[in-house]
Amino acid sequence: MKVTFKDVTMSYDGKTDTLRDLNFTIPDGTLVSLLGPSGGGKTTTLNLISGLLTATSGQIFFGDEDVTKKDALARKVGMVFQNYALYPHLTVLDNIAFPLKMAKVPKAERRKRAAELAALVHVDDQVDKKPGELSGGQQQRVAIARALAKSPSLLLLDEPLSNLDARLRIEMREEIRRIQRETGVTTIFVTHDQDEALHISDNIMVLSDGHIQQFSSPTDLYESPNNLFVAKFIGTPIINTIPADVLQDALAGIIPGEILERAETAGIRSEAIIPYDAGDAVLTKLSGSVTHSQKFGREATSDVTYNGQTILSTEMSGVPEDQAQLDFYLTKKGFFLFDDAGTMIYGGDLHAQ
Ligand SMILES: Nc1ncnc2c1ncn2[C@@H]1O[C@H](COP(=O)(O)OP(=O)(O)O)[C@@H](O)[C@H]1O
Ligand SMILES: [Mg+2]
Repeated sequence: MKVTFKDVTMSYDGKTDTLRDLNFTIPDGTLVSLLGPSGGGKTTTLNLISGLLTATSGQIFFGDEDVTKKDALARKVGMVFQNYALYPHLTVLDNIAFPLKMAKVPKAERRKRAAELAALVHVDDQVDKKPGELSGGQQQRVAIARALAKSPSLLLLDEPLSNLDARLRIEMREEIRRIQRETGVTTIFVTHDQDEALHISDNIMVLSDGHIQQFSSPTDLYESPNNLFVAKFIGTPIINTIPADVLQDALAGIIPGEILERAETAGIRSEAIIPYDAGDAVLTKLSGSVTHSQKFGREATSDVTYNGQTILSTEMSGVPEDQAQLDFYLTKKGFFLFDDAGTMIYGGDLHAQ
């Protein structure tokens, strides 16, 4: 089901707007993540989609139908929360079949459907157990199967993996992606974990401060961030940021003067500082020194000191640490300039590379 927001504003107290003028379309059959820091408005947005909350103003459409005034039941969404809240006294199969029982689906039919869903989420060998006998990951699989029981218009997941340990989170996020692909159900997944969002989403909506900071593919978020907030929120290690002034001389004649004049902050991804001349991929040559190097397993980082600033590079592991000045190169890809409002004014899609 396609979901469209038109000028949706949400205020809990009638004074401050928690969400302001949200406009977006989530295409049918896709998996979209709502990503952002805590308090950014992710849960509020999800609850406006589900119908658990009513928008203060604006319109919400499912397909071409205006559902703004419809409640959660009428919107036929399936929901999974961080606390899976399975019924402890019911078996796994009865938990999955429960929404069908409420809908008065005949017993044989609902047991058949529940068994199919148990197989889909890979708990078909657990159906006679009670939830308390399952691991956290298995319980979350059951919760997803239960949410899918009535073939919902949308599957909505609010931080469903937060209670799981790190390894299980990775396994379960792949499972959510697989289940979404196999069922084709339009899925909206809330997370504050960029890594989670980047790995499973077709598109990511970055929400902060009641606004959509950017709504695009994981690649575009990384390679062409709209603003400094997105540039810093997406990517590990975190993007280097230095005052643009520091690079004025090095970039004069390379980047148009009127852009350089407006540039407040330069953003440099750690892989954009390289020790060799990569030809056309290079924006400019700089001179500095490697002051500190670290290596953990396959990850190597070096601190490069340039013009009094320290920039982290992940590409300089072969270069010895010492104070001597050496040439290094700044690549076009992964280099951005932002104005004083934080808007990107150079790099990414703006200047195809
Ligand atoms: N029921 C509520 N009443 C009043 N304010 C709320 C309520 N729920 C959330 N908020 C406020 O709305 C903002 C966004 O919250 P939320 O949507 O839960 O963010 P997120 O899920 O991104 O952490 C926060 O400032 C939060 O305090
Ligand atoms: Mg939340």
